[in-house]
Amino acid sequence: SDFDSFLTELPKCEHHVHLEGTLSPELLIDLAKRNNIKLPEEHPPTIEALYDRYSKFSCLQDFLDHYYVGMSVLIYEKDFEDLAYNYFVKAHQDGVHHAEVFFDPQAHLERGIKLTDVVSGITKARTRAESDFGITTKLIMCFLRHIPSSDALTTLHAAVPHITTGHITGIGLDSSELGFPPHLFKEAYATARELNLELNYTAHAGEEGDHTYVLGALDDLKVERIDHGIRSADDDATLKRLAANNTLLTVCPMSNLKLRAVKSIGDIPLRKFLEYGVPFSINSDDPAYFGGYILDNYKEVHKHFNFDLATWIKIAENNIHGSWINQDRKDVLL
Ligand code: ADE
Ligand code: ZN
Repeated sequence: SDFDSFLTELPKCEHHVHLEGTLSPELLIDLAKRNNIKLPEEHPPTIEALYDRYSKFSCLQDFLDHYYVGMSVLIYEKDFEDLAYNYFVKAHQDGVHHAEVFFDPQAHLERGIKLTDVVSGITKARTRAESDFGITTKLIMCFLRHIPSSDALTTLHAAVPHITTGHITGIGLDSSELGFPPHLFKEAYATARELNLELNYTAHAGEEGDHTYVLGALDDLKVERIDHGIRSADDDATLKRLAANNTLLTVCPMSNLKLRAVKSIGDIPLRKFLEYGVPFSINSDDPAYFGGYILDNYKEVHKHFNFDLATWIKIAENNIHGSWINQDRKDVLL
């Protein structure tokens, strides 16, 4: 439709995509062959079976159990470069002008992969994509909340060389939310802040957890942004605080549907966010697992909300303002 081409052309920024979540069944099977990795029996062995399994997640944890097994095919620097470059190609096709991408260092370190191989593979892909497509990109390392926070500190120290060179410019927090509240990572965030003045901070909060996880991320971790944050809508004071501080929520509609955080995309409280003046972006999270990339997420939102042009333009502007880029780059995108 006409609206589809409007949404394609709309300058988009992606703020919430896990590179490991862009590992398509096709690439997963290819890399398993290339690297001679035998997947565990409960992990489907064919492309069709993988797509079928991915259509039936029951919750965040059910997805994560597949996500961590899937990424076991990523071994060499080139694997990470291929993974990230494939994502940037797709993002560019979807009209993404700026992408801030997550990766999970601990998920690779615990398998004996060197952090340098992961980061240099991703960095090569970013450099190629920036020169091939004129896209700008940032790399955010996430701590895994199901692993003790002492390991987050160890990982942070291991990442210092990559932070110093500017290859990693953001800190995030992801994985299993319920039972792992933000305050557990207070020291890790505080240490990062002492180490480096230029890092940006975000955390997943309010995906399955209630609004107190969002407040915890703001108070204990002092994040500038909240990943997901949809459960903020259950508490008026939280919404008002997000609006007053202009804190961006990086919402992932198809993810919320597939992981059953909502029954329908129409149940995501986007109207409430607009009403309260809480800025949000629309993102893909783990597109290879959730049936769609960023443009699919925009189209799904339009199908359920039927926003007018002015609202879409406002969303696009909020996206640009909430990006971790300098004013010159914002001016180009606006
Ligand atoms: N890791 C990858 N995707 C995630 C999500 N949606 N929530 C928490 N951790 C994740
Ligand atoms: Zn996520």
